Parts: sequence; structure tokens; C-alpha cells
Amino acid sequence: MIKNKTIVITGSEGLIGKDIVKYFKKKNYEIIGIDIVGGKNTIKCDITNEKVLKKKLDSKLKEIQPDILINAASKIPKINKFKFSSYNSQKWIKGIEVDLLGSFYVTKICCKYFEKANSGMIINLSSIYGVSGPDQSIYGKALKYQGYKNLEYSVAKAGLIGFTNALSSYYKNTNIKVLCLILGGVFEKKMKKSFVKKYLLKTVENKMLSTIEICKYIEFCINNRNIISGSNITIDNGAKAIF
Ligand SMILES: NC(=O)c1ccc[n+]([C@@H]2O[C@H](COP(=O)([O-])OP(=O)(O)OC[C@H]3O[C@@H](n4cnc5c(N)ncnc54)[C@H](O)[C@@H]3O)[C@@H](O)[C@H]2O)c1
Repeated sequence: MIKNKTIVITGSEGLIGKDIVKYFKKKNYEIIGIDIVGGKNTIKCDITNEKVLKKKLDSKLKEIQPDILINAASKIPKINKFKFSSYNSQKWIKGIEVDLLGSFYVTKICCKYFEKANSGMIINLSSIYGVSGPDQSIYGKALKYQGYKNLEYSVAKAGLIGFTNALSSYYKNTNIKVLCLILGGVFEKKMKKSFVKKYLLKTVENKMLSTIEICKYIEFCINNRNIISGSNITIDNGAKAIF
């Protein structure tokens, strides 16, 4: 069977990344996964280390021309009590560097190949927390001056939206398309029922997203590349309407 397009995906060992890999492999796409965690057919690499990343990714892309890049790697924060006024600065920097630096490095490398071929597509995965602040009361007891879902995650995901706008505008009048999917909460079996219940109250559709729904949206974007470039598309079961 003839191979379909080639997708480079960061965070390929994560909850969403793994299912994207499975979904598109079944459709005969060539997949180049990158993750700080090693896995079968995954380039093991910390994407915030530009030198190592360049060496490893370039050697792969010299053999296989990429068509699509999906930036899915992110440092997803653990839910932990914190006080903003005594927040640790190093933790803040660590929380934003995967999205804001890592995605930049990977995109820069892929764009070299996209420009040569005058064709390419970049899909950034952002979150509703990049446009709305988290409601801390769904993560823990609502107490004055105390939070649970960290704040730098919102900064990181907002940065990806800005990156999408600026890069799609830079590539105007070319065949390199850039877009962003602003995702709502994705359901995971290990989630506490009490959390899911509180989250659902914050959605219009009373639903969390499934990874398969995200895969189908990505497929739609790939098949409709000429109408969605420069767009930040919200897929959240109406969470942003309420958050
Ligand atoms: N899960 C959700 O509810 C949700 C909601 C909205 C948006 N998103 C976004 O979707 C994307 C995927 O989320 P997920 O739920 O699969 O998260 P996840 O934590 O399961 O996966 C993220 C992956 O990124 C990898 N990663 C982290 N740091 C890295 C680094 N320095 N170099 C290379 N890889 C690194 C991790 O090892 C992990 O496999 C993220 O961008 C996230 O912000 C997720």
C-alpha cells in the first residue's frame, strides 16, 4: 500500500499523542514521534535541548520529508496546593519552556524542510486554559489565596496561540499552513469521579473530550488545509462558554 503523508508529532508518548499515533498509523500515515520518554519508534529527546534535538530530528528528516507537524508536547502540571505570592520561579520557567521554547525549536527545524518543498502544515495543541483562567474550585477546596492548577500552564498555552497567529501571518501567501486547536478537558479513566462531575458542570454539552474526537478534528484540518490556516479552533464541548 502507498504511504500516506508523514506526520512529526511531539509528546507522542502522552495521553493524546499516543492515540494520534495509533489513529494515523492505521490510516497508513508515516509517523515520526518525539518524546522525552522513550517508546517504540519514538525519537527519545528533550525538545528544549535545541542542539540534541536538531541532530536527532535532522538525521531523520533528511531521509523522510515531513508534511505535517503536531506540537503536542507539554509539561502538564500536577495538581498541588500553592500560594502565588511565594511561587517558585524555576518551577514557573520549567512549566513554560516545553511549549514556548521546545515547540519553537521543533517547528523551526521542520519549517526548513517545509520551505524547501513549499508545502507543510503545523498544528499546535493549546488549551482552554490559554484563553480562560482555571476555576481553582474544581481542583480543590476554594480557599482565599490558595490555588491547585498551576498558573504557568495558562501562560504556556496562551503562548502557543500567539505563536500560531504570528507564524501563520508570516507564512501568508505560501503553502505552509499553521493552526491551533484549543482543547477542553480530555477524559481519562484514572480521573476522580468527583472531579469529572465538577468539570461537566462547566461545559455546555456535559461532556469531556475523547482522544478519538481530537484525532478526527486533526484529520478534518489536514483534509481542509486551505480554509483553516491562521485559525485557533476551539474544541471543548462548550467549556469556554462557561469557564
Ligand atoms: N489532556 C487534556 O485534558 C488536555 C486539555 C487541553 C489541552 N491539552 C494539550 O494537549 C497536549 C497533549 O496533552 P496530553 O494530555 O497528552 O498530555 P501528556 O502529559 O499525557 O503528554 C505530554 C507528553 O509530552 C512529553 N513531554 C513533556 N516534556 C517534554 C520535553 N521536554 N521534550 C519532549 N517531550 C516532552 C511527555 O513525556 C508526554 O508524553 C498538550 O499540549 C496539552 O497541553 C490536553
